[in-house]
Parts: sequence; structure tokens; C-alpha cells
Amino acid sequence: MDDLYLQIKGIIDSSLPLVSNLSNISALLFKMKDLNWAGFYIAKEDYLYLGPFQGDVACTKIKYGKGVCGTAYKEKKTIIVDNVNVFPGHIACSSLSKSEIVTPIIKDEVVVAVIDIDSPIYSRFSKEEKNLLEKVAKLIAPLF
Ligand code: SME
Repeated sequence: MDDLYLQIKGIIDSSLPLVSNLSNISALLFKMKDLNWAGFYIAKEDYLYLGPFQGDVACTKIKYGKGVCGTAYKEKKTIIVDNVNVFPGHIACSSLSKSEIVTPIIKDEVVVAVIDIDSPIYSRFSKEEKNLLEKVAKLIAPLF
């Protein structure tokens, strides 16, 4: 985990456009084991829009407060879902996804994006991933 954090830290280049940084960060996040999706949704007005990611084609627009992503956006906190089938309002982009973690990226107290990671395994995510993603979110926030 520390290793992945350091790789992400090392790859960020603030002279590049945001999309370039987020693209490479999604590639690094996707190296975590047992994942089927890793990427970003970018906040604009009342929606989150699909950003750079690795994995299958995904939903492009998620309303504030909807699904796991929209809930993390609204509540401004990391949400871990052990079983997506029992999360009320979960948005199923892929039938492969069984568990999910979403961490908001907060800049000047405003959620500017979320990091979304899905796994084909139930209960894949724990405090360890939460800590990592929250550290990564802090690292990324100044890029927005
Ligand atoms: N499952 C998410 C939607 C995005 S996909 O997982 C890539 C949600 O409920 O917000």
C-alpha cells in the first residue's frame, strides 16, 4: 500500500493537464489486486461525470446523492460497500462488481471528484484501502 502511494506520488506532474495525471493514477490504482474497475468521476454542478478509468465501459453521469458515488459526494466521506447488491440505490455499471469503495476528493471544502474502485469479490475493501485512498485524494486535490 505504501508502495502504491509512493508510485502515485511519483507519477504526479502538476505541469500536466488534470486528465493526464488522473489517467496514469487510475492505471496505478488498477494494479491493486482483485479489481474490475478503478477510476474517477468528476463533479460538475449536481452531477458526477465519468473521468479517466481502467476497466469496462461505465455509466457516464451520476446525480448528487445517487448510488455509492453520489452518496460519497453528498456525505463528503469514504463509503465502503461489502455487497453492492444490498446497497440501496447502487448503480450497477458491471455485473462483475460485488464490492466497492468510493472516496471523495475535497478541495476548499468542496467535493471536486470521487475515486471509485470496484471488485468482483465481496468485502474486498477495508480500513487499509480507505486510508490509502484518503491519502491519495489529499495528494490529488491541489491538481483541481
Ligand atoms: N457503482 C457506482 C457507479 C459507478 S461504477 O461502479 C463504475 C455507484 O453506485 O455509484
